[in-house]
Amino acid sequence: MSVAQHTLSQEAMALENKYGAQNYHPLPVVLSRGEGVYVWDVEGRKYYDFLSAYSSVNQGHCHPKIVEALTEQAKKLTLTSRAFYNNVLGKYEKFTTEYFGFDKLLPINTGVEAVETAIKLCRKWAYEVKGIDINEAKIIVCKNNFHGRTTTVVSFSNDPVARKHFGPYTPGFIKIEYDNLQELEETLQQNNDIAGFLVEPIQGEAGVYVPGDGYLKRAKELCDKHNVLFIADEVQTGIARTGKLLACDHENVKPDILILGKALSGGVYPVSAVLADNEIMNVIHPGNHGSTFGGNPLAASVAIAALEVIRDENLAENAGKLGVIFRDRMNEYIRESSICKLVRGKGLLNAIVINDTEEGDTAWQICLKLRDNGLLAKPTHGNIIRFAPPLVMTESQLHECIDIIIKTLREFE
Ligand SMILES: Cc1ncc(COP(=O)(O)O)c(C=O)c1O
Repeated sequence: MSVAQHTLSQEAMALENKYGAQNYHPLPVVLSRGEGVYVWDVEGRKYYDFLSAYSSVNQGHCHPKIVEALTEQAKKLTLTSRAFYNNVLGKYEKFTTEYFGFDKLLPINTGVEAVETAIKLCRKWAYEVKGIDINEAKIIVCKNNFHGRTTTVVSFSNDPVARKHFGPYTPGFIKIEYDNLQELEETLQQNNDIAGFLVEPIQGEAGVYVPGDGYLKRAKELCDKHNVLFIADEVQTGIARTGKLLACDHENVKPDILILGKALSGGVYPVSAVLADNEIMNVIHPGNHGSTFGGNPLAASVAIAALEVIRDENLAENAGKLGVIFRDRMNEYIRESSICKLVRGKGLLNAIVINDTEEGDTAWQICLKLRDNGLLAKPTHGNIIRFAPPLVMTESQLHECIDIIIKTLREFE
């Protein structure tokens, strides 16, 4: 690497480090271009992206169809606010509600805003439809959840880094073990003021924890029995990532409230949404909730294109097929490995657990080496590395990536 080239990365990182709030700890690589499953750094080195911006870029970087939707719409109209109608939002709402099978959609921008929206919707439904006493509604959440980082959402997190010194915390949440149906049932039986159960179908940030078969189905049945809304946060698992359109589809569960974000725009623009049927969504009236940018025509055009790509390119099917190959080959390697303990996941949302303590830095060192070997991934928690490539990957590209991962892990044996 020449001195001039070296300076490009160093300069970019130095600027962020000096002038940016230090709320992230990025892997030291400075990206300037992306196409499909690849990204390039400022020095021109090419990498496989094995994170996809935390499962946002499911359709691959700069998908031409989505970029075209963005640029064409940008030339016409970008933002009206909801003070006026625009000519794309209704089309997007019709398209997306039919796509996912719900009556109505509430458009918003980021994942955590959609979670906040779902919480408000659930509480309002609880008071106005279910008849829970005012300000008594509770929402059941799971330990080790990740639903974003607003004040209310960190109030029911148990990650000390996300939570510490951000109190006082919002009340109204009951935390139970993930993947524990007995605790869910007991909590529902013991409390008459439960409005909803908010759950990730797979806990992504926590380290890609896949619940036992039948968990979501039984949880939904229990919620139905107690007239409690089943709220699926599919911000990370949704939109083909796990081998089905929604992770809930693996168990034929239709959530009462569905939360989407990330890949809803293919990573091109912040777009999130909450979907529900009329009985629930109709509790929302003008002024109850909103956002200046939510439902803008640029977001709406981009999201339609992003969802069309998922369908037209059979990305759910591809994710399912490649996921099996990935876990099979990794398991074969793990049988003889002392550094890698296990692989788990569904579709192309997977993680490996490194043989180290949660405080150790082996996973971070492995990610640095993966980068040197041409593949970008990041530890989630301590000794867990998440692997979530764009879903447009081909089988031969996947094999090349697995070769890189195994070769890199061997350097640590
Ligand atoms: C399940 C889940 N919900 C919500 C969020 C928050 O999304 P955002 O970062 O867009 O606010 C995330 C982000 O990783 C997530 O994984």
